[in-house]
Amino acid sequence: MSASTVLLLLQLQLLASLVSASHHWGGTMNYAYKGRNPDGSFKMVLRGKDTYDSCSNYHSWNCYTGNCGSVTSRKITTIDLSTNTPFYKSQWCETENVETWRVPSDKPFQLRVASCCWITTRNSVSDWRLESLVDLGTRSDTGEPNRSPDIAVLPFIRVPQNCPRTYKMAVFDADGDEVMCRYGNLQGIECDVCSLPSGFSLDSDSCTLRYQSTSADSSIFAFEMVVEDFARNRIDLSYSDGSKMSKSPLLSRGKTEGYTAGVYAGTLPAATVSPTSWGGAEPSYNTTAGNPPSPGTTSFAQNRNGSPLSKLPLQFAFLVDPVVPSCQEGQYLPQLVAPTPAEGERILAEVNKEVEIRVKAQATHSSIQSIVISGPTNITKHKDTNNEFVIRWTPVPDDLGEHYPVCFAVESVSGSSVYQSEMRCVLVEIRKKQIEATVTCTESTMKVEVKKASFFGLEEDHLQLNDPSNTICSLDRLSNSTHIVAIIPLNECGTQIEEDDDYLIFKNEITTVEDDPNEIITRKHLVEARFYCQYPKRGNVTLNFSAHRKNVTVWEKGFGTFTYQFEFYQDDQFEAMFDPNSYPLEFDIGNRIYMQLDASSSVNNTEMFVESCRAAPYDNPNYHPTYSIIENGCAVDSTVQTYPTSNERLFQFSMEAFKFIGLHDQVYISCTVMMCEAGNPNTRCSQGCMNSTWSHFSSRRKRETVVQSGKHLVSQGPLRLRRGADPSRGTELNLNPNLVFVVGCLFAAVGMVCGVLLYKTKTSRVKYQSLPSYEN
Ligand SMILES: *[C@@H]1O[C@H](CO)[C@@H](O)[C@H](O)[C@H]1NC(C)=O
Ligand SMILES: *[C@@H]1O[C@H](CO)[C@@H](O)[C@H](O)[C@H]1NC(C)=O
Ligand SMILES: *[C@@H]1O[C@H](CO)[C@@H](O)[C@H](O)[C@H]1NC(C)=O
Ligand SMILES: *[C@@H]1O[C@H](CO)[C@@H](O)[C@H](O)[C@H]1NC(C)=O
Ligand SMILES: *[C@@H]1O[C@H](CO)[C@@H](O)[C@H](O)[C@H]1NC(C)=O
Ligand SMILES: *[C@@H]1O[C@H](CO)[C@@H](O)[C@H](O)[C@H]1NC(C)=O
Ligand SMILES: *[C@@H]1O[C@H](CO)[C@@H](O)[C@H](O)[C@H]1NC(C)=O
Ligand SMILES: *[C@@H]1O[C@H](CO)[C@@H](O)[C@H](O)[C@H]1NC(C)=O
Repeated sequence: MSASTVLLLLQLQLLASLVSASHHWGGTMNYAYKGRNPDGSFKMVLRGKDTYDSCSNYHSWNCYTGNCGSVTSRKITTIDLSTNTPFYKSQWCETENVETWRVPSDKPFQLRVASCCWITTRNSVSDWRLESLVDLGTRSDTGEPNRSPDIAVLPFIRVPQNCPRTYKMAVFDADGDEVMCRYGNLQGIECDVCSLPSGFSLDSDSCTLRYQSTSADSSIFAFEMVVEDFARNRIDLSYSDGSKMSKSPLLSRGKTEGYTAGVYAGTLPAATVSPTSWGGAEPSYNTTAGNPPSPGTTSFAQNRNGSPLSKLPLQFAFLVDPVVPSCQEGQYLPQLVAPTPAEGERILAEVNKEVEIRVKAQATHSSIQSIVISGPTNITKHKDTNNEFVIRWTPVPDDLGEHYPVCFAVESVSGSSVYQSEMRCVLVEIRKKQIEATVTCTESTMKVEVKKASFFGLEEDHLQLNDPSNTICSLDRLSNSTHIVAIIPLNECGTQIEEDDDYLIFKNEITTVEDDPNEIITRKHLVEARFYCQYPKRGNVTLNFSAHRKNVTVWEKGFGTFTYQFEFYQDDQFEAMFDPNSYPLEFDIGNRIYMQLDASSSVNNTEMFVESCRAAPYDNPNYHPTYSIIENGCAVDSTVQTYPTSNERLFQFSMEAFKFIGLHDQVYISCTVMMCEAGNPNTRCSQGCMNSTWSHFSSRRKRETVVQSGKHLVSQGPLRLRRGADPSRGTELNLNPNLVFVVGCLFAAVGMVCGVLLYKTKTSRVKYQSLPSYEN
């Protein structure tokens, strides 16, 4: 007996000793064919998602009919856990149990689990009963072994009693089958109580559960649902022993007149839905309005007479909370906002490249607290310093060709109440490698080299970084005949910055150039490759992140090449500039800081406008929070003083060194500036200080004539408070760990391509934006 078998037995004994406790919260499973073993037997991977009080339990599937073979390996990983639970339970923990089975034949078999006890439920569900039908027979339509649907739901859902909500279960079928979700009806086998709780309705075709209304209760409803897939046309499954079994499709709904039950749909119109569409052939189900199915509508599957190819359990806990003052999303209930992906969105992934799903929620009357997720093994969740959530997952080689649903909801709290956002599920599809790239991180740059073949041979002039306006961001500079090459400063080219407790992450992407940046039709990019560099925050500060910033040179249509220079000066004569080698500059609180912004352009008759200036520890424009000095052309800091200048492309101002510097080791001042046609009264430049309602028109152009440029960011720094100037800081060089990198951290800097090419067809919605009315 091997060590692992002993361990397994010990685990089973441990499990046996626990099963009497009331601790079950639900579960689901699916299976995938993974080829033949050398001895001719079949290899199947069973993925069970099991939710219990503790993270060490799992469903141990037993063979009920057929020859199921046996488990050869098992790996249990925690997916997510939360302590936002009904009062009588301290936590739930969902695990994924990935089991490899050696199955002697590809004939169908049934697996079951049955035991006691669910946590206390209000709908009298006590025992847990789950059943699966596995069929690995070879399909006559695809020529491949049958695959089960990929399904998911959050293990624990909650909603206030007065807020009707719709929950779309994640169901996807790689064979293109029609997937139905019904309530369990085989008592003692699929379910314990077997009836949909009142106050809910279930649309089987679209796998949509609607909560309508019921009373709040401190205990949960246990949901005992079953998911089945049906071929769209009659097919045969053939088995290695030479036998065959015929599988009939569901009768098409609404087309049943004229066909008697049992007539199969070979004679019905062929399905028009693309076989890989998310959720199968769901009728367009109107989630905003539409006619909700009547309460208690459960199983059309029986009426429609097909024979399922596989059957999977889908069980979860649902809590109805007390009344909330308003059901409006964004008040108490968190509202999911951009960049959160839409329900059902497909996310393409590649092996060994990290997938990132960003989730953002807002609520005015509760505070955003956490996110709950369900997804594949090794999925992780993070919260960044802007209170946005990031779900990350990296496919391994074995995931190639698989599809994994990922579901999430954001939770907020107000007093002792916990509110959940709507649940959204997306589908991650792991495709073969498309991007050939390397990313190298240095102290101040990211270098990315991508094979042109990754972009279907697109040349560098059709591709760009996030913000290509600075000439150092041009992809023409370093690319050669075979590779797109770019060296990207961490604070330029639209590089995004993200910070969490341990890391600073800088990100950018290469996307296709839009034909005309002025056109009002916004398109999704045709292809994109995202990449990032991640730096651990603890350690030595690099010299280069403390270095004086160089001029910013920009090229823009209508304005030609122009250069912005941003420098600090000794006094209000603006003659003696601080030596670039003397940075970081040191100030005492209350000292005046003299700054000059200067634009030089190859085109005459232009003026410069300083729209905003802010201070922050990094001069990356995407860093938040910042300290505002000038906003919308208006001085915000009360010590700001501006000086009359000799020409319209020069801006001189000063302010007192401010406490904000002391909150950080060092800060940069970054200004958003733009160029306009001089003297034209219709430009943003000529409007001067304006309240924020006007700021939206700053990057507009007037018809064909270019009267103003886009916004550009120029920065200078760093500035520090003189050590000892603030007695509370002490005299030690006491580096704030929130601040930056180490010379030594380069070895730990991780560069990777985290995205994949997204093949977007140009059929996306046309969006019209109202034009500003400044021409009047
Ligand atoms: C959903 O219903 C609303 C209101 O009845 C209607 O305006 C909208 O067009 C419908 N959407 C779809 C996709 O049927
Ligand atoms: C999960 O992560 C562990 C540790 O990093 C790794 O050993 C394992 O292969 C991963 N498993 C999967 C399925 O990604
Ligand atoms: C193009 O650049 C890549 C990456 O820097 C390099 O590996 C390759 O050899 C270069 N090819 C040519 C033809 O110069
Ligand atoms: C720092 O920057 C300078 C000029 O910007 C560059 O020459 C030098 O190589 C950089 N040092 C490191 C270690 O990257
Ligand atoms: C920056 O621009 C100014 C004028 O715009 C020029 O005099 C100066 O030499 C430039 N500095 C560098 C380092 O290129
Ligand atoms: C710009 O103005 C200068 C002096 O006013 C003039 O000499 C020059 O020709 C002008 N250049 C252009 C491109 O108009
Ligand atoms: C901007 O708005 C504030 C209050 O909303 C007002 O006090 C101020 O005068 C406004 N400034 C301009 C330039 O309209
Ligand atoms: C900081 O940099 C110095 C010099 O490069 C190095 O000797 C030291 O180990 C570094 N410290 C850390 C914490 O990385």
